[in-house]
Amino acid sequence: MIVTTKDLFKAAYGKYAIGAYNINNAEQIIGLFEGNMQSKAPFIIQISKGARKYTSTIMLEGLIRSADQMYPDAIFAVHLDHGDEETCYDCINSGFYSSVMIDASSKPFDENVAITKRVVDAAHAKGLVVEAELGQLGGVEEHVTVSEADAKLTDPDSVKEFVEKTGVDSLAVAIGTSHGAFKFSGSQSLHFDVLAEIQKRVPGFPLVMHGSSSVPQEEVARINAAGGNLAGAKGVDDNQFLQAAKLGVTKINIDTDGRLVWTRVHREYFKEHPEAFDFRPVGKIFMSEYANFIAAKNVKLGSAGQLEEVRKVLKG
Ligand code: G3H
Ligand code: 13P
Ligand code: ZN
Repeated sequence: MIVTTKDLFKAAYGKYAIGAYNINNAEQIIGLFEGNMQSKAPFIIQISKGARKYTSTIMLEGLIRSADQMYPDAIFAVHLDHGDEETCYDCINSGFYSSVMIDASSKPFDENVAITKRVVDAAHAKGLVVEAELGQLGGVEEHVTVSEADAKLTDPDSVKEFVEKTGVDSLAVAIGTSHGAFKFSGSQSLHFDVLAEIQKRVPGFPLVMHGSSSVPQEEVARINAAGGNLAGAKGVDDNQFLQAAKLGVTKINIDTDGRLVWTRVHREYFKEHPEAFDFRPVGKIFMSEYANFIAAKNVKLGSAGQLEEVRKVLKG
């Protein structure tokens, strides 16, 4: 059943976070649904602009609708990840998505407000909800001087004004994470002080943490042992997810970790089976490993076991 992220956040706020997983193909979608059903978790399917181009929007929509039929107990939102204004309107008008992210975080504050407000108005008119971003992820490093680092983190003093002026439903904040497999050139830690200040300014308002893959070191070592070269890769400590959830983070975005599962499974399989050329045996292993990864991640997020509670909240 497709619901809005707002529906999911109502149940989760202050207690746990919902996993927002990026998908690109059938194998990922099957693994994702399997893993969430195994762990009895509500979840968010994220589709990036790149994913929409990789196969086609029609194909992705068809795969997700089929999965919805195959797993009738699943409760999930379908969300555009890092949309520009044009892509947001395309998704809003498609009748398929339940939420969109407008990412105008690289623009000056007033422009970010104006763009976000236009998207919010269009989305709300059709019953969709909107995530926006304030502050900028990426390149925030522990070893740089505080003022340099702080310049990229979300300024807590600007959050209330942004939320009020735009009418947005949730907000991605920059608290030290970054996208990809190479995070934190210094020590691994989130800026909980900044997050706590943001929550004080907008209590009860759902916050989102992007760039939250944990880049497990065991996964990296296995990839490297099977011919990869991801030296120095590292990520967010997922033992910190629940602490973030208590401070208002209700959605945690994970893409890179799924790519690492794919890379490890395929590198190991083809190293062990140099004669192989059939994609199905390795595809089966990937779907099962990805499902296990999702189920374990949901335990860290606190969303595992929450499915029936969410169903109750949805019924009112
Ligand atoms: O934040 C970006 C996501 O990891 C999506 O990546 O644009 O390569 O699909 P992508
Ligand atoms: P990761 O690269 O840490 O998986 O972040 C994904 C993300 O934020 C998608 O929007
Ligand atoms: Zn992101």
